[in-house]
Amino acid sequence: MVLQTQFAQIKNNSLYIDDVNALDLVKEYGTPLYVMSEGHIRHQFNELKTKFLDKYDNVLPLFASKSFSCLAIYKLAKEYGVGIDCVSAGEISIALKAGFDPHKIYFHGNNKLPSEIEYALSHDVDHFVIDNFYEIEIVEEIATRLNKTVYATVRVVPEIKAGGHGFIQTGHKDTKFGFSARNGIYLDAISKIAQSKSIQFEGIHCHIGSQVFDLYAYISAMKRFVGFAYEIYDKLGIMVTKINAGGGYGIAYTKKDEPLDFEVITTEIMKTIKEGYDKRGWEMPMVLVEPGRYVVGNAGITLYTVGAIKEIPEVRTYMSIDGGMTDNIRTCLYDADYDGIIVNKAEQPKDTKVTVSGKICESGDIVVKELMVAKPESGDIFAQFSTGAYHYSMSSNYNQLPKPAVVFTYQGKSKVVIRRQTFDDLTYFDTEDCY
Ligand code: LLP
Repeated sequence: MVLQTQFAQIKNNSLYIDDVNALDLVKEYGTPLYVMSEGHIRHQFNELKTKFLDKYDNVLPLFASKSFSCLAIYKLAKEYGVGIDCVSAGEISIALKAGFDPHKIYFHGNNKLPSEIEYALSHDVDHFVIDNFYEIEIVEEIATRLNKTVYATVRVVPEIKAGGHGFIQTGHKDTKFGFSARNGIYLDAISKIAQSKSIQFEGIHCHIGSQVFDLYAYISAMKRFVGFAYEIYDKLGIMVTKINAGGGYGIAYTKKDEPLDFEVITTEIMKTIKEGYDKRGWEMPMVLVEPGRYVVGNAGITLYTVGAIKEIPEVRTYMSIDGGMTDNIRTCLYDADYDGIIVNKAEQPKDTKVTVSGKICESGDIVVKELMVAKPESGDIFAQFSTGAYHYSMSSNYNQLPKPAVVFTYQGKSKVVIRRQTFDDLTYFDTEDCY
């Protein structure tokens, strides 16, 4: 078992997160409970700041907020001076409510709705990652009508395969995201933008996928992007002054995972672009990166209460908890692997192999596929590690389970940043009308 954050420790036969005893959190807030170490999140934001933002001229790290989106996280992002990546008007609306500078929001997405474009522009969100020809048309129409200028980076597919699971690979040729570089398609997009009245071309965007451990994939993608910059200049006479290198930096979920160092990745990205631009005697473009999971993934620990335990002789032991695929869809969706412990037996020998199952009415409702834990009993508290990214943000109310609360811990204290849903919340959007 590895604790993937320095902000959690095992002591006194329990688990402490930012010096708060997890068992006290359970007493105060109940389970299931998403605990997020604010200490860890601050540490990661500080890495973005000191190892990228402050280290180079003309760069901006963006936090990919689809990984964890709520008022509190946008406030933290703002405090560290980073920008954010939003993929919907909904995410933008929360960021703005948190007081985020609209000019530091980059609007992504492969099918931005006209209503979302209108919402973004009328709230001064003016950086768009343009994904397709239809978007060029509607952005031009809406921006012109609203008398706004859109600063565009154009998403181009580098045709590089990387990422932890097929569902989270985005840089290969057969992807719904971005313009293909085949047959000069992306060049057509850029010349269309160059002729538009309200969209100003700035540069190109690349995102190869998520949960990436391969440094070479980032280097090859950037080499390809330098090649695109050359081609754009040579064929269209347009200079690429901004390169967004995307995110996807893998984190450790179990001890099998070997994450790359943030500074190593960004150094290679900067070096590859610089070498390419130097060759032409060009000035460095502005460079952006946009990690999400890297910032929040290892900050999260989900606390559950153990209920039914079912032993099938010579087959397996199911240890069911009071949540499931509603608060963690990643195991069934991506075959993801996790680590965890029984908190109230944290220092006892892990002598029992269990499958941690949820309470949802589906056989696929597995939270951890196989794990050695101290012999479990009903009423124990199970902690699942590294649940900070794409857990709360992908949660659902399937089987009408209220969503758990999210609690931040920091320097021995804890506070609720998203309250637990109630049964009343489950019918909040319902009407009783029927025909
Ligand atoms: N930039 C773009 C354009 C993206 O599409 C994404 C993630 C990111 C940045 C941030 O990627 P990250 O650094 O967090 O890996 N639900 C999946 C991950 C989906 C990622 C979607 N895009 C999961 O739980 O693994």
